[in-house]
Amino acid sequence: MVIALVNHKGGVGKTTCTLNIGAGLQRMGKSVLLIDADAQANLTTSVGLGYIELPSLADVLAERVSIQQAIKSEGRDIPIVPATLELAELEISLAAQLDGRERLKRALQPIRSEFDYILIDCPPTLHLLTDNALVAADEVYIPVMAEFMPMSGLVTLTKHIDRVQRSILNPSLKLAGIVLTRFNKQKVMCQTVQQELHERFPQELLNTVIRENVAIAEAYRMGTDVFQYQAKSNGAEDFTALCDEFLLRQNATETNVKRRNGNLVKETL
Ligand SMILES: Nc1ncnc2c1ncn2[C@@H]1O[C@H](COP(=O)(O)OP(=O)(O)OP(=O)(O)O)[C@@H](O)[C@H]1O
Ligand SMILES: [Mg+2]
Repeated sequence: MVIALVNHKGGVGKTTCTLNIGAGLQRMGKSVLLIDADAQANLTTSVGLGYIELPSLADVLAERVSIQQAIKSEGRDIPIVPATLELAELEISLAAQLDGRERLKRALQPIRSEFDYILIDCPPTLHLLTDNALVAADEVYIPVMAEFMPMSGLVTLTKHIDRVQRSILNPSLKLAGIVLTRFNKQKVMCQTVQQELHERFPQELLNTVIRENVAIAEAYRMGTDVFQYQAKSNGAEDFTALCDEFLLRQNATETNVKRRNGNLVKETL
């Protein structure tokens, strides 16, 4: 299962969610691969790597190396395909290529079944790198910060996801979840945003919210996840609950698909 974490608004917790959902799922026994699709390379540094890890995702998208060659796994808890600043230049040159949006999907093909979850951290844009993630992904999760009114941005984003679904590039893409981040229940604004999201996206909005928590921010700065940094923090508690809910939803989807397939078999008999 390939999952893209997308929001063209900056600083909403995309990278933090990718890192800690990845770490949480791995603690629950799932095999996880992280992919840093942002030239800022925040995910790369948040797992303790440097800015110039080569080969990187840019080499993969330029088809200079295979994705297997770009996975950093030695001595690491979670394997990662790192980003470098070169991704920014590559984005411009790939835009001129006919298959520019399909490079990541093609690169992932040989390793899709090797991991339970491949999580892609996207940049704060809806340009080519995010499109590569949306074309490669089975599901999209949108981290949303609870502090600002996020609706207008979400409308733009869901329209964009809609366009990808209606194109031939990825008709089976599913908007699977919206996660409220940096939540502070004392703030009226947070409750208002939660209520609005619940009304507008009743299926997609996850019950679990990620609270504003200093351990989450410190872990990220120190190049590690919140579980390793402070296992007994609100952050570790929230990301554990989020991963539990995520896996429950995954199981429900699988059961529905099986049920549908079962009915299909009955109908055709
Ligand atoms: N729940 C949280 N509690 C406290 N700080 C948080 C939380 N979530 C994220 N942060 C902090 O907020 C900042 C932005 O988070 P993050 O980098 O994950 O956002 P982003 O959406 O990936 O940003 P960008 O759009 O630039 O890629 C970081 O400094 C991070 O440590
Ligand atoms: Mg980020």
